[in-house]
Amino acid sequence: MLMQLGVTARLLMGAGLALAAILLALLAPPAWAVLTALPAVAILAWALHGHHRDEVLWRDREAELKDSARHADEMIAAIPSGLIGLDRQGRVCRWNEGATRILGMGRGGIVGRHVREWPVAGQRELAARLADALAGRTISRGSLEVTRTDGHIIPLGISTSQLCCENGTASGAVAVFQDLTEVNRIRDRMKQQERLAAVGTLAASIAHEIRNPLASIAGSVEMLAGELDLQGELGELLALILKESDRLNDLIDNFLEFTRDRRPQVAAFAPARLLEEVMTALRQRGEAGSALELALDAAAAPARLEADAAMLKQVFLNLLINAGQAMDWRGRITVTLREVEEAGVRWTDFVVRDGGPGVPPEERPHLFEPFFTTRARGTGLGLAIAHRIAEQHGGSLELLAEPDAGAAFRFRLPTLAAGHCVNESPCPAESPVG
Ligand SMILES: Nc1ncnc2c1ncn2[C@@H]1O[C@H](COP(=O)(O)OP(=O)(O)O)[C@@H](O)[C@H]1O
Ligand SMILES: [Mg+2]
Repeated sequence: MLMQLGVTARLLMGAGLALAAILLALLAPPAWAVLTALPAVAILAWALHGHHRDEVLWRDREAELKDSARHADEMIAAIPSGLIGLDRQGRVCRWNEGATRILGMGRGGIVGRHVREWPVAGQRELAARLADALAGRTISRGSLEVTRTDGHIIPLGISTSQLCCENGTASGAVAVFQDLTEVNRIRDRMKQQERLAAVGTLAASIAHEIRNPLASIAGSVEMLAGELDLQGELGELLALILKESDRLNDLIDNFLEFTRDRRPQVAAFAPARLLEEVMTALRQRGEAGSALELALDAAAAPARLEADAAMLKQVFLNLLINAGQAMDWRGRITVTLREVEEAGVRWTDFVVRDGGPGVPPEERPHLFEPFFTTRARGTGLGLAIAHRIAEQHGGSLELLAEPDAGAAFRFRLPTLAAGHCVNESPCPAESPVG
């Protein structure tokens, strides 16, 4: 604007000077006329040239201004936050894509209207914060709730500013806001996990406290049973006490195993031998009895496996006990042990297959959740523990899809623990073993 005035002034001044020179030339005697006409032409030429140059400059500036205004608009449109601007009269003059997405309302129904005429009742608090900002009452990090046009109530994080004042009056106001739904969800989940962790620690310490007196009770009852040699009903009662204390002990062991965050102690061993040891231990347990047949197929087994042997024993015991329970301790359980190579990684697979009823589809998604059990006396920790041990070794535990009756669980581990990769094969990803 100023520049345009400058251009016009220069043109007027040039034209004025030229006019004066022409008048002089006309009034002066002819001999002088040439002398006075020359400056008139020069002045006019100077004024015209200057005018042309200024006009080019002015057009350049105008293009530059338009360019930077477009750039500012693009930036405002691109920010993921919602942005709403008011002009000095309090009318909505800016509304970006973020505002449309967060509030579920397009700019059409609101831009140009006064902030007091906000069309959605559930968003009036946002409108009030904008009106406040225009009056100088701004917020730097506030929060409020708005109802989207689809009826969803969402939490907003908001900050508002007043645009610079001219003679004490604001030239506008702006609000920038974000949808905090996801942030709040993550915060709540973390809080819940913290609470669960606290409960877990408490439960683990109670379990520890129970274990010692329980061992004394069980030991004493066992001695009494030996000494008294009770028969009949009394004998049955003593046997019941022993059986139930065993069960309680198992539960506490499992629970402590589950809550303990022990890192695997990795060493190399022969996996087939370890499996045989576990099977022997199971055969010696009363329930397994003679009606259960345990078969091991280790023809394609690797000679060595790097893992925490004690943890693996626990896994196989859990899987074999589950299989035995599913078959009512009658029938055949096969354990297949073999090494496979996939994506350049050598894996050792243990598949425990039973002839029980299998796992119904609706239970499958919950199998590895802690405390999921369908057995009246179950703890629901056996598979959860086995699953965690697999993950701690960079492996996996899965229920295989079996066409026939029965269940087959595949426990898979990298044959070589992380950091021991050979033959330039890539190490298995994410193995916490170390
Ligand atoms: N071999 C299997 N056949 C059928 N169902 C199984 C088998 N193994 C586990 N399950 C199911 O998974 C549930 C959870 O097993 P687990 O975590 O070992 O806990 P628990 O044995 O204490 O119930 C069992 O209650 C059972 O419903
Ligand atoms: Mg179990």
